[in-house]
Amino acid sequence: MEKIIVRGKTALSGRVKISGSKNAAVAILPAAILTAGTVFIENLPDITDVHTMICILENLGVSIRRRGKNALELTPSSIAKIAPSYELVKKMRASYYFMGSLLARFGRAVVPIPGGCDLGPRPIDQHLKGFSALGAGINIEHGMIKLSADKLVGARIYLDVVSIGATINLMIAAAAAEGRTILENAAKEPEIVDLANFLNAMGASIRGAGTDVIRIDGVNKFSGASHTVIPDRIEAGTFMIAAAATGGSVIVEDIIPKHLEATTAKLREMGVRVEVEPERIMVEGVESLLPADLKTFPYPGFPTDLQPPGMVLLTAAKGLSVITENVFDGRYNHVDELKRMGARIKVEGRTALIEGGIGLSGAPVAASDLRSGAALIIAALMADGESQITAVEHVDRGYENFEQKLIHLGASIQRVREKDYNIQSGTRD
Ligand code: EPZ
Repeated sequence: MEKIIVRGKTALSGRVKISGSKNAAVAILPAAILTAGTVFIENLPDITDVHTMICILENLGVSIRRRGKNALELTPSSIAKIAPSYELVKKMRASYYFMGSLLARFGRAVVPIPGGCDLGPRPIDQHLKGFSALGAGINIEHGMIKLSADKLVGARIYLDVVSIGATINLMIAAAAAEGRTILENAAKEPEIVDLANFLNAMGASIRGAGTDVIRIDGVNKFSGASHTVIPDRIEAGTFMIAAAATGGSVIVEDIIPKHLEATTAKLREMGVRVEVEPERIMVEGVESLLPADLKTFPYPGFPTDLQPPGMVLLTAAKGLSVITENVFDGRYNHVDELKRMGARIKVEGRTALIEGGIGLSGAPVAASDLRSGAALIIAALMADGESQITAVEHVDRGYENFEQKLIHLGASIQRVREKDYNIQSGTRD
């Protein structure tokens, strides 16, 4: 196990290049098996979730050739099985996208029931409702979801809850179904648009991605394709918030500012100076941040994945702020850790009250998921003294070279193996 040691009170400054989107990449890679041709994908983030996805594909029999750190070529011509490895699949929830892609390619899939995680219950009832509407039989036994369909047939599917995962899974399956599928109340995230563009490049016929009604006319043949993954809007927003929280001045580059409108608006509402240019955003922290009400919603609302970093920022705004987490039940595991650093936060159900302006002090804290891990690192940069953040493997799942990028912005941060560092003496054993 590794941990990150941060010496606080650092105002970040400089430029940071944003990597490709984790949540687009983990949807595009499973979708690539719809074709037996060769697919070239670039701007993949170099993160453990992508590495895991690649291992799952290789385990299925897909031949993969790396083309540099952030690009690869894959040829799914000889897939040998319809059950991805359990050991690999249980590492990441997004592997459930293989339900849609294996069903689309082979009419069968056997995928473990995805684990919950620290964001509260994460059912997949909408995925299964959609697969059955497309004609798949579903059998759940011994912790496995077994799907099979002699033929997938297009259907009109209304999602009871706006779900990125269900929208993605059903778009992939419907791409190969006979006839038209209409997904209503679909999620509108940019990652869904990126996947639709990739599927269409392979020969699919998908219209309306990015709106709440997506029309998919199934096709029975997919070709190879090339695709460049969109920038990661959550990584970009994390750095924007880190700049504001540390009172620094950072230019966040290689992004699509439109994907960050809710974050830009909220930062401006808090008094942060934000300048938007075509492919970059400059954020300048200010002495006295204003408290704010922050509510998370599906895109284009404020993203739930930026709620933990957003909470850290609000601890620096003198006065009372309120966060309402509307997407997940219980996405507040980072609160207890922030309280160990002196934050004054009270959680009531989906609402968190933050009494800001108190100042944080360094402490040993633990990450519980990748976004809370990033939030705790930001808090450590703001805090007085030294912090150590354990369970940083969570952060590695979704942030490419996170601490290197922060060091480049002036942070005093290092990664050590758990047993090598003693917080009391501050030395390696
Ligand atoms: C995606 O998860 C993201 N993951 C999450 O990012 C993100 O937090 C989440 O969307 C919300 O934006 C990936 O894209 C890989 P949902 P997903 O289905 O698809 C409920 C990160 O940090 N729901 O949109 O699992 C669900 O419980 C990760 O990068 C059902 O009730 O989220 C939740 O309350 C964390 N039934 C809400 O919908 C279902 O069948 C939104 O979930 C599906 C979902």
